[in-house]
Amino acid sequence: MISLHDIHKSFAHLEVLKGVNLEIQPREVVSIVGPSGAGKTTLLQIMGTLLKPDAGSLEIAGENVLALSGNKLARFRCRHIGFVFQFHQLLPEFTALENVIIPALIDHTPKSKAVARAKELLDFLGLADRADHKPSQLSGGEKQRVAVARALMNTPDVILADEPSGSLDTAHKEELHKLFFRLRDEFNQTLVIVTHDEQLATLTDRTIHLLDGKRVEPEQNLSSDPTSTSTNLQ
Ligand SMILES: Nc1ncnc2c1ncn2[C@@H]1O[C@H](COP(=O)(O)OP(=O)(O)OP(=O)(O)O)[C@@H](O)[C@H]1O
Ligand SMILES: [Mg+2]
Repeated sequence: MISLHDIHKSFAHLEVLKGVNLEIQPREVVSIVGPSGAGKTTLLQIMGTLLKPDAGSLEIAGENVLALSGNKLARFRCRHIGFVFQFHQLLPEFTALENVIIPALIDHTPKSKAVARAKELLDFLGLADRADHKPSQLSGGEKQRVAVARALMNTPDVILADEPSGSLDTAHKEELHKLFFRLRDEFNQTLVIVTHDEQLATLTDRTIHLLDGKRVEPEQNLSSDPTSTSTNLQ
Protein backbone atom coordinates (compact mmCIF):
# COMPACT_ATOMS: atom_id res chain seq x y z
CA MET A 1 0.00 0.00 0.00
CA ILE A 2 2.71 2.48 1.07
CA SER A 3 6.37 1.78 0.65
CA LEU A 4 9.08 4.20 1.75
CA HIS A 5 12.69 3.37 1.15
CA ASP A 6 15.75 5.16 2.55
CA ILE A 7 13.98 8.48 2.98
CA HIS A 8 16.23 11.44 3.79
CA LYS A 9 15.11 14.99 4.49
CA SER A 10 16.99 18.06 5.70
CA PHE A 11 15.87 21.60 6.38
CA ALA A 12 18.92 23.77 5.66
CA HIS A 13 21.67 22.18 7.79
CA LEU A 14 19.27 20.26 9.99
CA GLU A 15 19.08 16.59 9.01
CA VAL A 16 15.57 15.60 10.08
CA LEU A 17 15.12 12.15 8.48
CA LYS A 18 18.19 9.96 8.17
CA GLY A 19 17.22 7.01 6.01
CA VAL A 20 13.77 5.76 6.99
CA ASN A 21 12.29 2.55 5.58
CA LEU A 22 8.65 1.68 6.09
CA GLU A 23 6.02 -0.59 4.55
CA ILE A 24 2.34 -0.13 5.34
CA GLN A 25 -0.03 -2.93 4.39
CA PRO A 26 -3.67 -2.46 3.37
CA ARG A 27 -6.10 -2.37 6.31
CA GLU A 28 -3.31 -1.73 8.81
CA VAL A 29 -3.62 0.86 11.54
CA VAL A 30 -0.07 2.00 12.21
CA SER A 31 0.96 4.49 14.85
CA ILE A 32 4.12 6.60 14.70
CA VAL A 33 5.48 7.72 18.05
CA GLY A 34 8.60 9.50 19.26
CA PRO A 35 9.73 12.60 21.08
CA SER A 36 9.06 16.11 19.86
CA GLY A 37 11.37 16.95 16.97
CA ALA A 38 11.98 13.28 16.07
CA GLY A 39 10.66 13.91 12.54
CA LYS A 40 7.17 12.38 12.82
CA THR A 41 5.28 15.18 11.09
CA THR A 42 7.99 15.48 8.45
CA LEU A 43 7.67 11.76 7.71
CA LEU A 44 3.86 11.94 7.56
CA GLN A 45 4.01 14.96 5.22
CA ILE A 46 6.36 13.07 2.93
CA MET A 47 3.95 10.09 2.94
CA GLY A 48 1.16 12.53 2.15
CA THR A 49 3.12 13.99 -0.80
CA LEU A 50 2.93 17.41 0.83
CA LEU A 51 6.73 17.47 1.14
CA LYS A 52 9.39 15.97 -1.14
CA PRO A 53 12.24 14.01 0.40
CA ASP A 54 15.84 14.85 -0.59
CA ALA A 55 16.52 11.18 -1.32
CA GLY A 56 14.74 7.84 -1.21
CA SER A 57 11.71 6.34 -2.89
CA LEU A 58 8.02 6.45 -2.11
CA GLU A 59 5.30 4.30 -3.62
CA ILE A 60 1.63 4.66 -2.77
CA ALA A 61 -0.95 2.25 -4.21
CA GLY A 62 1.59 1.13 -6.81
CA GLU A 63 2.39 4.67 -7.98
CA ASN A 64 5.86 6.20 -7.86
CA VAL A 65 4.57 9.45 -6.44
CA LEU A 66 7.92 11.23 -6.43
CA ALA A 67 7.74 11.22 -10.23
CA LEU A 68 4.47 13.19 -10.13
CA SER A 69 4.24 16.97 -9.96
CA GLY A 70 1.82 19.83 -10.45
CA ASN A 71 -1.75 18.88 -11.30
CA LYS A 72 -1.00 15.17 -11.52
CA LEU A 73 0.36 15.13 -7.99
CA ALA A 74 -2.54 17.23 -6.68
CA ARG A 75 -5.03 14.89 -8.34
CA PHE A 76 -3.29 11.82 -6.95
CA ARG A 77 -3.27 13.30 -3.43
CA CYS A 78 -6.92 14.29 -3.64
CA ARG A 79 -8.02 10.80 -4.75
CA HIS A 80 -5.74 8.57 -2.73
CA ILE A 81 -4.89 10.29 0.54
CA GLY A 82 -7.10 11.62 3.33
CA PHE A 83 -5.71 13.93 5.99
CA VAL A 84 -6.75 14.56 9.59
CA PHE A 85 -4.77 17.17 11.51
CA GLN A 86 -4.53 18.04 15.20
CA PHE A 87 -6.73 21.06 14.72
CA HIS A 88 -9.63 20.14 12.45
CA GLN A 89 -8.85 22.84 9.84
CA LEU A 90 -12.46 23.08 8.79
CA LEU A 91 -13.45 26.21 6.89
CA PRO A 92 -15.38 28.32 9.44
CA GLU A 93 -17.82 29.92 7.02
CA PHE A 94 -19.04 26.58 5.65
CA THR A 95 -21.37 24.02 7.27
CA ALA A 96 -20.22 20.54 8.26
CA LEU A 97 -21.76 19.10 5.09
CA GLU A 98 -20.13 21.74 2.87
CA ASN A 99 -16.75 21.11 4.48
CA VAL A 100 -17.10 17.37 3.90
CA ILE A 101 -17.93 17.66 0.18
CA ILE A 102 -14.99 19.97 -0.67
CA PRO A 103 -12.54 17.16 -1.62
CA ALA A 104 -15.19 15.65 -3.93
CA LEU A 105 -15.88 18.98 -5.63
CA ILE A 106 -12.13 19.46 -6.13
CA ASP A 107 -12.15 16.04 -7.79
CA HIS A 108 -15.04 17.18 -10.07
CA THR A 109 -17.60 14.81 -8.53
CA PRO A 110 -21.15 16.03 -9.33
CA LYS A 111 -22.50 17.97 -6.36
CA SER A 112 -25.60 15.80 -5.87
CA LYS A 113 -23.45 12.67 -5.67
CA ALA A 114 -21.03 14.36 -3.27
CA VAL A 115 -23.87 15.54 -1.01
CA ALA A 116 -25.38 12.04 -0.92
CA ARG A 117 -22.06 10.50 0.10
CA ALA A 118 -21.36 13.25 2.65
CA LYS A 119 -24.75 12.61 4.27
CA GLU A 120 -23.98 8.91 4.47
CA LEU A 121 -20.62 9.60 6.06
CA LEU A 122 -22.00 12.11 8.55
CA ASP A 123 -24.69 9.59 9.44
CA PHE A 124 -22.08 6.85 9.94
CA LEU A 125 -20.15 9.21 12.21
CA GLY A 126 -23.24 10.06 14.27
CA LEU A 127 -23.39 13.60 12.91
CA ALA A 128 -26.54 13.43 10.77
CA ASP A 129 -28.25 16.16 12.80
CA ARG A 130 -25.15 18.38 12.71
CA ALA A 131 -24.83 18.59 8.92
CA ASP A 132 -26.02 22.19 8.76
CA HIS A 133 -23.94 23.40 11.70
CA LYS A 134 -20.89 25.56 11.17
CA PRO A 135 -17.66 24.57 12.95
CA SER A 136 -18.23 27.19 15.67
CA GLN A 137 -21.49 25.39 16.55
CA LEU A 138 -19.79 22.00 16.98
CA SER A 139 -17.90 20.48 19.91
CA GLY A 140 -14.22 19.63 19.54
CA GLY A 141 -15.00 15.93 19.09
CA GLU A 142 -17.69 16.67 16.52
CA LYS A 143 -15.33 18.91 14.56
CA GLN A 144 -12.74 16.14 14.45
CA ARG A 145 -15.37 13.67 13.23
CA VAL A 146 -16.35 16.11 10.48
CA ALA A 147 -12.66 16.28 9.58
CA VAL A 148 -12.62 12.46 9.44
CA ALA A 149 -15.69 12.51 7.16
CA ARG A 150 -13.90 15.00 4.90
CA ALA A 151 -10.83 12.73 4.84
CA LEU A 152 -13.06 9.77 3.85
CA MET A 153 -14.94 11.67 1.15
CA ASN A 154 -12.95 10.45 -1.85
CA THR A 155 -12.52 6.89 -0.45
CA PRO A 156 -8.75 7.31 -0.03
CA ASP A 157 -6.32 4.40 0.04
CA VAL A 158 -4.94 5.72 3.29
CA ILE A 159 -5.80 8.24 5.99
CA LEU A 160 -2.85 10.09 7.47
CA ALA A 161 -3.53 11.66 10.85
CA ASP A 162 -1.14 13.94 12.76
CA GLU A 163 -2.00 13.97 16.47
CA PRO A 164 -5.71 13.80 15.64
CA SER A 165 -6.80 13.55 19.27
CA GLY A 166 -4.16 15.97 20.56
CA SER A 167 -6.65 18.75 21.20
CA LEU A 168 -9.50 16.62 22.60
CA ASP A 169 -10.59 15.81 26.15
CA THR A 170 -10.50 12.20 27.34
CA ALA A 171 -14.07 11.26 26.35
CA HIS A 172 -13.82 12.70 22.84
CA LYS A 173 -10.36 11.23 22.46
CA GLU A 174 -11.59 7.70 23.20
CA GLU A 175 -14.54 8.17 20.87
CA LEU A 176 -12.24 9.25 18.02
CA HIS A 177 -9.85 6.35 18.65
CA LYS A 178 -12.75 3.87 18.53
CA LEU A 179 -13.83 5.45 15.27
CA PHE A 180 -10.43 4.79 13.67
CA PHE A 181 -10.79 1.07 14.35
CA ARG A 182 -14.35 1.08 13.04
CA LEU A 183 -13.02 2.55 9.81
CA ARG A 184 -10.59 -0.34 9.51
CA ASP A 185 -13.16 -2.98 10.46
CA GLU A 186 -16.09 -1.66 8.43
CA PHE A 187 -14.40 0.13 5.48
CA ASN A 188 -11.09 -1.81 5.33
CA GLN A 189 -9.46 1.59 5.80
CA THR A 190 -5.68 1.87 6.13
CA LEU A 191 -4.56 4.48 8.66
CA VAL A 192 -1.22 5.96 9.72
CA ILE A 193 -1.50 7.97 12.91
CA VAL A 194 1.17 10.14 14.53
CA THR A 195 0.35 10.28 18.20
CA HIS A 196 1.67 11.11 21.64
CA ASP A 197 -1.17 9.07 23.10
CA GLU A 198 0.28 5.84 24.47
CA GLN A 199 -3.14 4.27 24.91
CA LEU A 200 -3.92 4.76 21.23
CA ALA A 201 -0.48 3.52 20.19
CA THR A 202 -0.93 0.28 22.12
CA LEU A 203 -4.28 -0.32 20.40
CA THR A 204 -2.87 0.00 16.88
CA ASP A 205 -1.76 -2.98 14.80
CA ARG A 206 1.84 -1.78 14.78
CA THR A 207 3.83 1.06 16.31
CA ILE A 208 6.77 2.73 14.57
CA HIS A 209 9.21 4.45 16.90
CA LEU A 210 11.11 7.42 15.54
CA LEU A 211 14.07 8.91 17.35
CA ASP A 212 16.27 11.65 15.95
CA GLY A 213 15.18 10.96 12.37
CA LYS A 214 15.61 7.19 12.48
CA ARG A 215 13.46 4.18 13.23
CA VAL A 216 14.46 2.51 16.47
CA GLU A 217 13.33 -0.45 18.53
CA PRO A 218 10.99 0.59 21.37
CA GLU A 219 13.46 -0.17 24.13
CA GLN A 220 16.18 1.99 22.61
CA ASN A 221 16.62 5.47 23.95
CA LEU A 222 19.11 8.30 23.72
CA SER A 223 21.55 6.56 26.03
CA SER A 224 21.68 3.45 23.78
CA ASP A 225 24.66 2.79 21.58
CA PRO A 226 23.78 4.81 18.47
CA THR A 227 25.74 2.45 16.21
CA SER A 228 23.31 -0.34 17.03
CA THR A 229 20.30 1.65 15.79
CA SER A 230 18.63 -0.24 12.98
CA THR A 231 17.37 1.90 10.14
CA ASN A 232 16.21 -0.96 8.02
CA LEU A 233 13.17 -2.26 9.84
CA GLN A 234 10.12 -3.27 7.90
N1 LIG B 1 9.74 23.63 7.40
C1 LIG B 1 10.74 23.48 8.28
N2 LIG B 1 11.85 24.26 8.24
C2 LIG B 1 12.85 24.08 9.11
N3 LIG B 1 12.87 23.15 10.09
C3 LIG B 1 11.80 22.35 10.18
C4 LIG B 1 10.68 22.46 9.30
N4 LIG B 1 9.76 21.53 9.65
C5 LIG B 1 10.28 20.86 10.70
N5 LIG B 1 11.50 21.34 11.02
C6 LIG B 1 12.36 20.84 12.09
O1 LIG B 1 12.55 19.45 11.88
C7 LIG B 1 12.55 18.73 13.10
C8 LIG B 1 11.48 17.66 13.06
O2 LIG B 1 10.22 18.29 12.99
P1 LIG B 1 8.84 17.49 12.99
O3 LIG B 1 7.77 18.50 12.90
O4 LIG B 1 8.89 16.45 11.96
O5 LIG B 1 8.89 16.83 14.43
P2 LIG B 1 7.78 15.99 15.21
O6 LIG B 1 8.38 14.68 15.53
O7 LIG B 1 6.51 16.01 14.45
O8 LIG B 1 7.62 16.82 16.56
P3 LIG B 1 6.30 17.15 17.45
O9 LIG B 1 6.03 15.92 18.26
O10 LIG B 1 6.74 18.30 18.31
O11 LIG B 1 5.19 17.51 16.52
C9 LIG B 1 12.34 19.77 14.20
O12 LIG B 1 13.59 20.08 14.76
C10 LIG B 1 11.74 20.93 13.46
O13 LIG B 1 12.09 22.15 14.10
MG1 LIG C 1 4.64 16.84 14.75
